Amino acid sequence: MHVSVDKNICQGHGVCLMMAENLFDIDDEDGLAYVMKQPENDAERDLARQAQGNCPERAISITDT
Ligand code: F3S
Repeated sequence: MHVSVDKNICQGHGVCLMMAENLFDIDDEDGLAYVMKQPENDAERDLARQAQGNCPERAISITDT
């Protein structure tokens, strides 16, 4: 699994941080999310999927690697 945030789509709602605070963070410079750490176990993969599903802008992409 590889997680990414499209900064052209993200509006900084922060739902991803609330759902998976160890995977996502907000860039202090632009106020938009970035992936701090890729998921490394099933629990983190689930959190990443939840964040993806709950992002109001659908800015989070997950690809299988
Ligand atoms: Fe951005 Fe969506 Fe997170 S808009 S801050 S990626 S919830």
